[in-house]
Amino acid sequence: MNALVVYFTRTGNTKALAEALAKEMDCDIEEIVDNKKRTGVIGSAGAYLAPINKKTTIKKVKAKVSDYDLVIIGTPVWWYTNSPATNEFMKMYKGKIKKAALFYTCDVDKGVNSERDFKKDLGKKATITYGFTSGAIKNGSFKKKMKKFAKEVQ
Ligand SMILES: Cc1cc2nc3c(=O)[nH]c(=O)nc-3n(C[C@H](O)[C@H](O)[C@H](O)COP(=O)(O)O)c2cc1C
Repeated sequence: MNALVVYFTRTGNTKALAEALAKEMDCDIEEIVDNKKRTGVIGSAGAYLAPINKKTTIKKVKAKVSDYDLVIIGTPVWWYTNSPATNEFMKMYKGKIKKAALFYTCDVDKGVNSERDFKKDLGKKATITYGFTSGAIKNGSFKKKMKKFAKEVQ
């Protein structure tokens, strides 16, 4: 299956997961770039205010999204749901995505609204959704689950 992994990351957890997944699946990968700076004092404050300041814009991705049978979208959980940059990707490319899967990374809570909001923004359900904790990514114990996801998503 011809798959593309796209992900947004602020502090590197989702990037680490996305890179390991793309390597495992031997598929293409691309970062979603938020036009709003999300690091530093002001950028971080903006991130934490995302629930009341949801809108953002992203850079166009280089990949031709419609060429892929499957697009796997990776996002950090921000306030129980997907990050604004990921939402924007889904809104921008919804007409071009044939089949989509979701993975999210979070500190403690599950992305309780991630699947619901994914469906709302993309107009279709994720074929499969997996969540990973930042702790598991940092200590390397995510690998077994990541491999299971790589197998099930295809
Ligand atoms: C604005 C903001 C909101 C967050 N909200 C949640 C949350 O609701 N639940 C949770 O478990 N973690 C939450 N986190 C933690 C991140 O989801 C977690 O650290 C994630 O792995 C970060 O991914 P990244 O390193 O790819 O940016 C939040 C982080 C930020 C910056």
